[in-house]
Amino acid sequence: MGNGIAHVLAKFGVEVVLCEANAEALAKARGTIESNLGREVAKAKLSEDEAKQALGRITGATGLEAARGAQLAIEAVPERREIKIPLLRQLDGLLAPEAILASNTSSISITELGAATKRPDRFIGMHFMNPVPVMKLVEVIRGLATSDSTAAAVHQLALRLQKTPVEVNDYPGFVSNRVLLPMINEAIYCVMEGVAKPEAIDEIMKLGMAHPMGPLTLADFIGLDVCLHIMEVLHEGLGDAKYRPCPLLRNMVAAGWLGRKTKRGFYQY
Ligand code: CAA
Repeated sequence: MGNGIAHVLAKFGVEVVLCEANAEALAKARGTIESNLGREVAKAKLSEDEAKQALGRITGATGLEAARGAQLAIEAVPERREIKIPLLRQLDGLLAPEAILASNTSSISITELGAATKRPDRFIGMHFMNPVPVMKLVEVIRGLATSDSTAAAVHQLALRLQKTPVEVNDYPGFVSNRVLLPMINEAIYCVMEGVAKPEAIDEIMKLGMAHPMGPLTLADFIGLDVCLHIMEVLHEGLGDAKYRPCPLLRNMVAAGWLGRKTKRGFYQY
């Protein structure tokens, strides 16, 4: 997600500092951005020169120190509080008081993350969709303390990136994942109960409901660990049994079959 966010910001003229954990991750992110900009050049959506300029606006860094002068920081680290909160606190200490701190979290409470910093009014959810260069939505999540001016600034930025910002309030799973993940979870129950094979379930949802990807292909694309985590957030946060994660999903995550990123999920890659 991080490389996609850097890609679109740089494409629309924003100077970006892309902070990764180490040099290897940075090289991988840069390679992904280069190849995704290359797709746009191949389709004549971008000239070679524009792609080069976009790439030139991205400065790579390992660690966060290089983010010091930023007006906006968008955090996109793994979906674990114990990783996000210390990193957000570190960013909070580095950034100027007026800077905005945003999280691309797919389900952790924006109010809670904001409260862990000294700028809850300038803290907001900026939830991009994967693949970021393609998907038009930015789900903008207001925590309880998020100010109107912060929401307005992020709204304007999303428009500048030619995305459509849609504002929602901070409840578990927001809107995107509160609606999407129970559908994916139900598709996994269908596999577990032998209702149909993954290919058949995906074909039904693609051809019958005009979804671009079937739910199980999409689950592999999102990552089964991420899917399980979001179901747990819904289950715990809303307290309703209808959000219980499917046992087959738990088993697959326990097996390390996490989807595309491990080359095995509901399908093999
Ligand atoms: N990065 C950048 N561009 C990509 C890409 C990637 N990883 N994958 C595909 N594209 C581009 C292609 O270059 C192509 O561009 P043009 O339209 O300009 O030609 C376009 O996307 C369509 O690609 P393809 O024709 O190769 O393939 P497709 O038609 O099957 O589309 C897809 C691929 C866009 C991924 C499509 O299958 C799709 O929309 N899938 C659903 C994606 C989705 O639901 N995303 C949300 C996931 S949930 C989430 O992100 C939030 C969360 O919190 C979990």
